Amino acid sequence: MTDNQTKPVKRAALITGASSGMGREFARRLAGLGECDELFLVARRREEMEKLSAELGVPARIVCADLATEEGLAALKDALAEAKPTLSWVISAAGFGVFGRFDEVSDEDVFKMIDLNVKGAVAVTRMAIPYTVRGGHIVELGSGSVFCPLPNFNIYASSKAFILHYSRALREELKHLGISCTVFCPGWVDTGFFSVADKEGDDVHKPPMEKRKPLLKADRCVRGAVKAAKRGRALYTTNWYTKLEHLLSKLLPAPFLIAGWKSMQNKK
Ligand SMILES: NC(=O)c1ccc[n+]([C@@H]2O[C@H](COP(=O)([O-])OP(=O)(O)OC[C@H]3O[C@@H](n4cnc5c(N)ncnc54)[C@H](OP(=O)(O)O)[C@@H]3O)[C@@H](O)[C@H]2O)c1
Repeated sequence: MTDNQTKPVKRAALITGASSGMGREFARRLAGLGECDELFLVARRREEMEKLSAELGVPARIVCADLATEEGLAALKDALAEAKPTLSWVISAAGFGVFGRFDEVSDEDVFKMIDLNVKGAVAVTRMAIPYTVRGGHIVELGSGSVFCPLPNFNIYASSKAFILHYSRALREELKHLGISCTVFCPGWVDTGFFSVADKEGDDVHKPPMEKRKPLLKADRCVRGAVKAAKRGRALYTTNWYTKLEHLLSKLLPAPFLIAGWKSMQNKK
């Protein structure tokens, strides 16, 4: 290499929720497209991330962290400070929801949803921005549930409604840095989400599985989300019913939207 040739900068992607579902698909997609030379995979289950890392064909750093805790967030912050990556993608996909009536969901689940889906997501983006390059993309995982208050899925939907507003404002706030922010709002997707959301013993306060079907394919949703982020889209919804929900949320008062949601449930 001659003196005036500089070493190309390694572009990295930071992906939370990388051990499963859509986070895992983002890792596959970004590695497959050659969008990054290195990946930071973040979640609690090391073994799943090791399996993923072995198939990617791009070097991956695995950060095991519970992002609903201060210790987990500090571990990720330390890993970034040590590696000082040049991030071209930040995907905030760690999250979970639990169905159930407000007074039946445990305190642990309620506050963990808020800690992970809201505080954790904001903290990850805040720690990633100093390492994110001009032209970089941030994708925040919202949900089809952002468009309406959802009884019996209240805290989850409310946490994701926060993500919708937060991401849209963040997009404006990051323009001066040349970083785009897209909020990704999929409908029901076939991932590990439901094995966490469907607590044993509560079959009444939620839409039955047959009403959530057909579930969307995670790889197809992620393909669309990556394309939307590269085009600098503010919001990406995956399919007709999520687009319809978005439209109806602009046209109808909340009680009508809530009645539509409740009509899907076993018990109102
Ligand atoms: N599936 C759907 O129908 C759907 C629809 C709309 C939006 N979403 C959103 O999409 C995102 C991805 O979910 P998914 O559908 O892909 O579900 P998933 O397969 O269950 O993936 C969730 C990911 O979040 C990670 N995670 C959970 N708790 C964590 C914690 N405390 N600390 C760190 N990581 C944690 C999980 O990893 P570990 O368990 O290894 O920590 C896993 O990698 C979530 O934000 C979800 O709310 C899902």
